[in-house]
Amino acid sequence: MISIEEVIKEYKSDIKNSLDIDKLENKYLSRKGYISELFKNLKDIPAGKKSVYGQQLNDFKHEIEDYIKQNITQESQSKLEIYPVHPLDIQSNIGGLSPISRLIFKIQDIFEQLGFSVAVGPELESEKYNFDLLNIPESHPARDVWDTIWVQNPAGVKSLLRTHTSPVQIHYMENNKPPIRIIAPGKVYRYEATDSTHETVFHQVEGLFLDDKASIATFKGVINYFFKELFQQDIKMRLRPSYFPFTEPSFEIDIWLQDKWLEIAGAGMVSRKVLENGGITDHNIQGFAFGLGIERLAMILYGIDDIRLIHSADIRFISQLGKIQL
Ligand code: DAH
Repeated sequence: MISIEEVIKEYKSDIKNSLDIDKLENKYLSRKGYISELFKNLKDIPAGKKSVYGQQLNDFKHEIEDYIKQNITQESQSKLEIYPVHPLDIQSNIGGLSPISRLIFKIQDIFEQLGFSVAVGPELESEKYNFDLLNIPESHPARDVWDTIWVQNPAGVKSLLRTHTSPVQIHYMENNKPPIRIIAPGKVYRYEATDSTHETVFHQVEGLFLDDKASIATFKGVINYFFKELFQQDIKMRLRPSYFPFTEPSFEIDIWLQDKWLEIAGAGMVSRKVLENGGITDHNIQGFAFGLGIERLAMILYGIDDIRLIHSADIRFISQLGKIQL
């Protein structure tokens, strides 16, 4: 029969040797552990000594329990130290604006120098504003690649994730009188397969300039100034005839970089129909609109060869771009 004194002695030496808490618990407190064995001895203790023995055993049991309780927290804390939180890491990796946001701010700065203000419109746009008021009829082929996610609100208004920033033109015309000089940067959505030059979500900057004499020459002056400021060098530019339902005439803008022409924006003189849809009936008012793809600009400016990298959230990529001064 093992004595309580012997067990206490062994326990003290286990603690001195910092026996693992799990092992300690198992050895002393489990069903087959020392304490339950010592309790079994109770029946063999002479009647007069039973209560003293019982008390001693209980005290010992509590001592072990207290020790385990205390040390379990210490042990789990030291386990936590295996995965330490380094406050310095957090501080040294402070986040910043994405390259796209920084480029948008830069674009805004340049246009503000020319007297433009910044307008915004909703990303969930009604069919009417995204298409109809911009003179894009139901049967127009552009509606196919522009078939993004459709939503119908309880009032029955059919809306979709906007496919371009051009609807902001109409919103702005409805609420403001000419002269109008705005740019409207924002996110747009497309229904198409992604590849190195196409994404389903990207950003555009829309421009709208209306007064009683704005011409294609005005447009060329404005857009040329913009490119010169953005690229910090003289930029050769050309307008190519094109077609958009909301402009007449319409053109693509190409810029000459290094050794080739790059298509960079769509533009045109705002069609009379669209002006009227925006509530402008005065025939003396005329002007131009344009739409620039921001990711495309970023790719040219920073030498990025795959548009998908831009929103990949890959820290190695983002931190490289973070170093670029705009
Ligand atoms: N909204 C057109 C697109 O996403 C781009 C565009 C072309 C905008 C001509 C314009 C414009 O304002 O005049 O492809």
